[in-house]
Amino acid sequence: MSIATTDLAGLVQPAKGTVSRQVYVDQGIYDHELERIFTRSWLFLGHTSQLAQPGDFLTTYMGEDPVIVARGKDGQVRAMLNSCRHRGMRVCRSDEGNTSFFRCPYHAWTYSNTGELTGVPKFRLGYGGVLDKKEWGLLEVPRVEEYGGFLFGNWDAGAVPLTEWLGDFRLYFDLVFGRDPEGVEFVGGVHKWSVRSNWKIPTENFACDMYHVAHSHARSMEIGLLGPSGDDGYEIAAGMGFLGNGFGPPASADAEGAPVHPMATMATPYSEHLAAQRARVAERYSQEMSRVVPGGHGNVFPNFAFLDIELLRLVRVHHPEGPGSHTVHQWCVVDKSLPAEVKDALRRQYTLTFGPSGMLEQDDGENFRECQASMRGVIGRRMENNLMLGLGQDRTGAEIVGDGDAPGAGGGIWSEANQRRWYEHWLSFMTGQVRR
Ligand code: FES
Ligand SMILES: [Fe+2]
Repeated sequence: MSIATTDLAGLVQPAKGTVSRQVYVDQGIYDHELERIFTRSWLFLGHTSQLAQPGDFLTTYMGEDPVIVARGKDGQVRAMLNSCRHRGMRVCRSDEGNTSFFRCPYHAWTYSNTGELTGVPKFRLGYGGVLDKKEWGLLEVPRVEEYGGFLFGNWDAGAVPLTEWLGDFRLYFDLVFGRDPEGVEFVGGVHKWSVRSNWKIPTENFACDMYHVAHSHARSMEIGLLGPSGDDGYEIAAGMGFLGNGFGPPASADAEGAPVHPMATMATPYSEHLAAQRARVAERYSQEMSRVVPGGHGNVFPNFAFLDIELLRLVRVHHPEGPGSHTVHQWCVVDKSLPAEVKDALRRQYTLTFGPSGMLEQDDGENFRECQASMRGVIGRRMENNLMLGLGQDRTGAEIVGDGDAPGAGGGIWSEANQRRWYEHWLSFMTGQVRR
């Protein structure tokens, strides 16, 4: 019997703070995730700034399914399965671009940027009128919706609207991406790399793991890339919000804006822009709510993640690739109204820190790969992982942030409350209890 049909609730016990290592290595559980989670969740596709003109497109994945996301000649954004209706070839191999059509490299069936099949070689001679082109367009993802320029797709035609999926988490999403009156833009194209670890390992890290920062990234602190060295002075209770499908970000500054965690500062020379953002948030919401600026990291279930340190922001997706591997797609995100030289400096800082060869990303890539390597052995996989940090110490969002209107709940800064809640959520999808 596949392990996916046994008692998943026995493997994952968020209330106790334990997770069986089978969830990282078992093929049956992984297949179940693709079916139960990735065909029913809102999955991040891209940002409208990447698809500004008709014909603009990018390619990505929804679970393991490759998709093309394109703004058609009619101005509408669609997501379509990147699989030729003839015999399955991936139709588009480019990361991004602008085109009026997609031509399959195998036998040259051609599709418009709205997905219709428009060209078939030897159409009259070979198919003698029996092929109805209208029936053989690219398969369209039934739901594509946008929040603040962030495009998400869902294979489930009956899914709740994206805004409902994000729920009260929208407030924290706005605090990360909506601080600039003009919004954000994606700069510098996509970075892609693969890591030999299950997709949930980096997802747990982004959910958000403040516990590892002072240790895993100690060298980055020593050379001044990230806050001061050690964690002295960072014991002030900050916290994390989780609600709906969003996890994090923490309130990582005190009411005056001073950082309460190294992740809150990168010692950049652009603090006046950050101070202006914090002032805008204080004016729009409250002084307490501006504690969430900057926010550290967080994610949206299942595999969309973000990081927010001072003015530096990135978003990424952990695409699953079998139980033992995932591919990251990551972009640098900047506030639109910043001066061009600041945007460029932020892009370079992003590359130096969290790009594929960035100092901090190298630290974490090794963490993720080595966790997987030690858990996949026949003995290692029989064990449980421990998510007990801060167990029983959860507080409401209002208590954490100090603003009665702050939604959600979370743990202190030394807490795996978000990870426990994430697995509760995972379990409800895997056992079919999730609401639609
Ligand atoms: S597989 Fe695409 S044209 Fe044949
Ligand atoms: Fe890290």
